[in-house]
Amino acid sequence: MESIKLRKITSVWVITVLILFIVSITLGILMRLNQGEVISQSPVTFYSNLTTHGLTMIGIWFVAGMAAVNYLMQRYIKTSYAANVIALVFTVIGVLMLWTATFIGKFHAAWTFLYPLPFKEMGAATWATLLFLASLTVLGIGWLIWSISLMTQILKKYSIAQAFAWQHFKKNPKVETPPFILISMITLIGVIACLFAAVVLLVLFYAEYFSKGNFVNDALLMKNLTYFFGHTIANEMLYLGLAVIYELFSEVSGRPKWKTTWYVALAWNFTLIFVLTAFFHHLYMDFVQPEGLQIIGQLASYLASLPAAGVTVFSVFIAVYRTKIKWSLTNLLFFIGIAGWVIGGLGAVIDSTISNNIVLHNTLWVPAHFHTYNAMGNVLFSLGFFYWFSTQFSENSKVSKFTTLTLTLLLIGGIGFLLAFYFGGADSIPRRYSIYPSDFPMAAPMATIGATFATIYLIAILIFFFNIYKRCLKILFSPS
Ligand code: HEM
Repeated sequence: MESIKLRKITSVWVITVLILFIVSITLGILMRLNQGEVISQSPVTFYSNLTTHGLTMIGIWFVAGMAAVNYLMQRYIKTSYAANVIALVFTVIGVLMLWTATFIGKFHAAWTFLYPLPFKEMGAATWATLLFLASLTVLGIGWLIWSISLMTQILKKYSIAQAFAWQHFKKNPKVETPPFILISMITLIGVIACLFAAVVLLVLFYAEYFSKGNFVNDALLMKNLTYFFGHTIANEMLYLGLAVIYELFSEVSGRPKWKTTWYVALAWNFTLIFVLTAFFHHLYMDFVQPEGLQIIGQLASYLASLPAAGVTVFSVFIAVYRTKIKWSLTNLLFFIGIAGWVIGGLGAVIDSTISNNIVLHNTLWVPAHFHTYNAMGNVLFSLGFFYWFSTQFSENSKVSKFTTLTLTLLLIGGIGFLLAFYFGGADSIPRRYSIYPSDFPMAAPMATIGATFATIYLIAILIFFFNIYKRCLKILFSPS
């Protein structure tokens, strides 16, 4: 059973993530309005906002998944409260440092801070690059401590073979590994690996920064490290959300708990291997990279997504098909989130196919697919958890007027916002432009339409926030 302390810190995570989310969506809407030429931001302001938006979004939905996994893991093993507190403190400090570097120092090298951009910042304060690198260091250390601590706790109860559910490859295993533990373990390994890559990357950045020109990095190595970190963490945070769904979907739907079978074990073991090599698809246009790695990139992109998606969709389908289940905002959000994840995943697989990538590379197709499995996928997984968590200690969660309104606005806003990106991508409109060139006459109107729908999405999130924050505050300030 979870402790009172864990309940309280989870409430702090929920409130913090939602507040940062509302600010980050607002930045996203401002970017779309600028691209639509409805407002006029300087290029430096636009790119600082892009950097803040991208990194804050990745950061908050990673910690949201970790906070949910940490909370639910207490059902199986004792987790470290200290590691959770360290992660929270480091996250708050790291975000404040990041926002100082971008909002005040005007650092604007985008969330991928691709080498050597951070050293070529024009219009930014001289201290901004160093503060930006320091903010990532603080975030990375906090998250590494948290991930290693959770993984260590799993390994105190389960052997390595059991944590990977290898005994499920045989019939009637003596020890059962819950799917939640299996997916958390697989995901934490990926998270730790990519955070270590981030450490190496940061050390190389610092080395060049302080060498005053005596040491220059290899650009291809830096790009490989950047995408190993960036692509992997963006994917792993989705899997944290899936671990939560495997634990809660059946429970909140009043159905028997999902069990690990041989095919669930196999699919997730495959996912571990392939998710770590799929990042090569970010280097298709780097022709000096050996061709074999590009081929690995394409194969791994298919193999990393298909097994996990296959078994998850199958499990959810079996749970709901021709079965009377108890619908609540929690499982509705999970259900829609899985649809968003699969649709966005298909968009990603299309883009990661080399012959398509030649056309779609760095067009709006890229933000189209990753916003689909984030804004309409992973975010909904965490919102489902947030709602379930907040209602656990008060009233029952039933489908109410508030549920219908939130979901309707979320769907209308989310789908409209995403379609504006997809149509833009299909029209070859490039991504990351503050103002579009006149060769793309549909780009600005499409951006304004995107901003309008994103505002509807924001309204849904505000309704959601006002519905649950009071319950979270009650949990936080309850005496016992
Ligand atoms: C309705 C909510 C959102 C809005 C309005 C929004 C808007 C935008 C816009 C306009 C861009 C720039 C697109 C371009 O390249 O031209 C962008 C980029 C990005 N967004 Fe969002 N976004 C939203 C939600 C999210 C969510 C939930 C995530 C979660 C991970 C996210 C992560 C990112 C990332 C990583 C980038 C790339 C930044 C870069 O290129 O450096 N966004 N978003």
